[in-house]
Amino acid sequence: MVRLVTTDSPAETRELGIRIACRIERGQIVGLVGPLGAGKTVLAKGLCEGFGYTGNVTSPSYSLLNIYEAQFPIYHFDLYRLENAADLEDIGFSDYLYNGRGTSIVEWSDRVPGALPPESLEFNLRILGENKRQISIRFPESCYGGLGQSI
Ligand SMILES: Nc1ncnc2c1ncn2[C@@H]1O[C@H](COP(=O)(O)OP(=O)(O)O)[C@@H](O)[C@H]1O
Ligand SMILES: [Mg+2]
Repeated sequence: MVRLVTTDSPAETRELGIRIACRIERGQIVGLVGPLGAGKTVLAKGLCEGFGYTGNVTSPSYSLLNIYEAQFPIYHFDLYRLENAADLEDIGFSDYLYNGRGTSIVEWSDRVPGALPPESLEFNLRILGENKRQISIRFPESCYGGLGQSI
């Protein structure tokens, strides 16, 4: 199921993240796709807030991974600078994704085709104007329980 949402400010994008995070379960994998400046990190910030984490959230562009401690760990990846798919395994990517303890948010998940499983929740952001973003949200079947309709 795909929903299309348009936001008119960073605050609106953050709020969208908060609303969705409140409805998704620990262990969910979230992919964030879109060009530089599209709002992936703004959305990640909202998701983290929705998970109960109110600290700093920044793109881990160089480190590839930030870990935040909320009600459960949040693994925030940014694959922008990833040179090849093998580097993913060096940072233990799939160990984090599938450890069953935390939730993963992956910016630039499209840099490595197939990096995320089909049951991921995927946001695709497009820049429509200075403050306008079109956000397409692809919900996996496991999220159909009303989440798609509530957005
Ligand atoms: N509707 C909007 N949603 C999200 N960000 C927006 C919006 N309008 C303007 N912005 C700005 O766009 C930038 C998005 O930056 P960021 O989230 O770091 O992008 P990315 O992580 O995709 O590279 C921020 O400076 C933010 O203030
Ligand atoms: Mg970013």
